[in-house]
Amino acid sequence: AKPNLAPTPPMGWNSWNTFHCDINENLIKQTADAMVSSGMAAAGYKYVNIDDCWMARQRDGAGRLQPDPVRFPGGIKAIADYVHARGLKLGIYSSAGSHTCQGLPASLYHETTDAQTWASWGVDLLKYDNCGQQDGIPAQTRYKRMADALQASGRDILYSICEWGQNQPWLWAAETGGHMWRTTGDIENNWSSVVGLLDQQVGLEQYSGPNAWNDPDMLEVGNSGLTYGESRAHMSLWAILNAPLIAGNDLRSMPASTRDLLTDPDVLAVNQDWAGRQGAKLRDDGDLEVWSKKLSDGSAAVVLFNRGSSPATIGTTAAALGLPAASAYAVKDLWSNTTKASTGAVRAQVPSHDAVMFRVTPGASAELAPMVLVEATPEK
Ligand code: DGJ
Repeated sequence: AKPNLAPTPPMGWNSWNTFHCDINENLIKQTADAMVSSGMAAAGYKYVNIDDCWMARQRDGAGRLQPDPVRFPGGIKAIADYVHARGLKLGIYSSAGSHTCQGLPASLYHETTDAQTWASWGVDLLKYDNCGQQDGIPAQTRYKRMADALQASGRDILYSICEWGQNQPWLWAAETGGHMWRTTGDIENNWSSVVGLLDQQVGLEQYSGPNAWNDPDMLEVGNSGLTYGESRAHMSLWAILNAPLIAGNDLRSMPASTRDLLTDPDVLAVNQDWAGRQGAKLRDDGDLEVWSKKLSDGSAAVVLFNRGSSPATIGTTAAALGLPAASAYAVKDLWSNTTKASTGAVRAQVPSHDAVMFRVTPGASAELAPMVLVEATPEK
């Protein structure tokens, strides 16, 4: 059976969104250090993932992939040891074709050898892309070959399937051995990309669950193409979607405001909670959306999302969220950490390109102040 490596959505970091091929062993080690010193590791981020461009142009004499001698002169095993010594896990990358998307050697017909190589280095996760020549072999077959090879390697390796949603992987990737699968093409460092990917998640909520996560792609939170509010909306939405939370910014230099978006304990608790279904769109009034998710303690998470160009009031009710009738509800604003009492309305003033995120719990203590219209907190 598939190893139980992702009972909740995986959390970590990946080199691609910020660094593309400009990677090396110092970057990876410094990122592991930053993951610990920033508090991300304590918040639950675990995987340090090396994406495309780690491998040399040629396999070695025994047909094994080898690390690029300039970028990774110390080898991958030394990095795995370094990462493990900090309580973290190491991820690596290949493609289910002749070459990676950057033209380097990849793993089609080399599945057994490559899985053994990674296992011998101590690798803990494989992201398996869909570039290179594939001789007409269907995706499902190519992805299954690697799943079997990973299993046969004898090491627990989380399997991240990256075929960009082209063959409806939500229908087969979990059974094929994948712990998560990309549902779309690549995220980019801009707002319209984030919103476009979000739109493609609608209807997929029925396919995810423990060890089987829809992956709307890695985070651009904190990157230059997004404002603070846009990063906050992106984080809120990926959290409620039960997306794997794979940071894609430079952890070594992030400001405290970005760290706080990535590590908010209440927001991460929503993401990591499995109560039977990932969050889904509850209402769509054009530019104003309500996304919700039931939580296992009987409360509900809600994201009030304003994708439009002017501020707006967005609201829903406890009943619409599916909560049982109660005389009062505790409504916690997860980004400002304030809790108010409501008789059922859940409303906020949401700036343009931003989101407000609440957790709504039936029953409220008498000391709580009543909820009036909440306004999103400014960047600190
Ligand atoms: C395509 C994938 O979707 C990206 O996430 C990244 O891994 C690149 N390939 C690397 O070439």
